[in-house]
Amino acid sequence: MSIEQYLPQDLFKNKSVFVTGGGSGINLGIARAFATVGANVAICGRTESKLESARKELEDLGAEVVTSVADVRDYKALEDAVERTKRDLGPIHVLVCGAAGNFLCPTEQLSTNGFQSVVDIDLVGSFNSCRAAFEQLKETRGSIVFVSAGQSLIPYMAQAHAGAAKAGVDNLMRNLALEWGAYGIRSNSIVPGPIEGTEGMRRLAPGEIGEKLKHAIPLRRFGTTDEIGSAAVFLASPLAAYVTGATLSVDGGMNLPGSGLFGQIVMEAMS
Ligand code: COA
Repeated sequence: MSIEQYLPQDLFKNKSVFVTGGGSGINLGIARAFATVGANVAICGRTESKLESARKELEDLGAEVVTSVADVRDYKALEDAVERTKRDLGPIHVLVCGAAGNFLCPTEQLSTNGFQSVVDIDLVGSFNSCRAAFEQLKETRGSIVFVSAGQSLIPYMAQAHAGAAKAGVDNLMRNLALEWGAYGIRSNSIVPGPIEGTEGMRRLAPGEIGEKLKHAIPLRRFGTTDEIGSAAVFLASPLAAYVTGATLSVDGGMNLPGSGLFGQIVMEAMS
């Protein structure tokens, strides 16, 4: 599936999209999808080398690109990055809050700092990004897409920190839909499932866990970064003009109650 087969390549022409954590993985997939439909793209992240290789990919798709080394926990760095974006690409039409941190850790072994680091990156970082971009989004009557996670919807083992952070992200998303709707700003979340080739998969489903996990996904496969990118473009596009406060699962059905072990137990009992 490639997005340009279905959507006009000038859908986001002359519009700028700011993606936090856009140097790699799902967030780079989102940045690529917007570049494919004509957007200019600003990406920020902590690692300059990742940003530079992402820049090349995005420029090859025809986008003008701004990169900023900025940790979403650092409000001032984000403010500078969004100002630079406005100066070089024009005001932000779409903000993608994608920067996240995670690791598997049973709660009884998790330190306060470990819990707080994830909440700071995912939740406080999303707030910082929205707050810093607010004036520009107001000017463009733009939209925000949060990258949430299944941990927001249902509890996962060894994921108390990510669950708390992402549930907070989804609630922030709904609050902004409520408060900023009056400015024409829409706010929605994507809940990705396991997406192949990403840092998240390497951290959360390494090796054998990943292979077994496939059987717990109703569609029986991992997703792709392009599939998350398409969902983000849809949510930010005029196709979703009346969609705000929504959570869109792009997870192959993984977070449906009844998927996974429960389904397996029932099917085994019936066979
Ligand atoms: N298990 C338990 N605790 C862990 C951990 C793990 N695998 N990895 C980090 N921590 C703890 C650290 O021990 C530290 O706590 P302490 O001071 O009590 O020892 C705390 O988390 C902060 O770690 P640190 O490495 O200093 O933080 P950081 O800000 O450099 O990194 C993380 C943030 C921990 C979220 C790191 O995993 C990260 O940078 N992730 C970004 C990429 C990513 O996770 N992508 C996938 C998203 S799905």
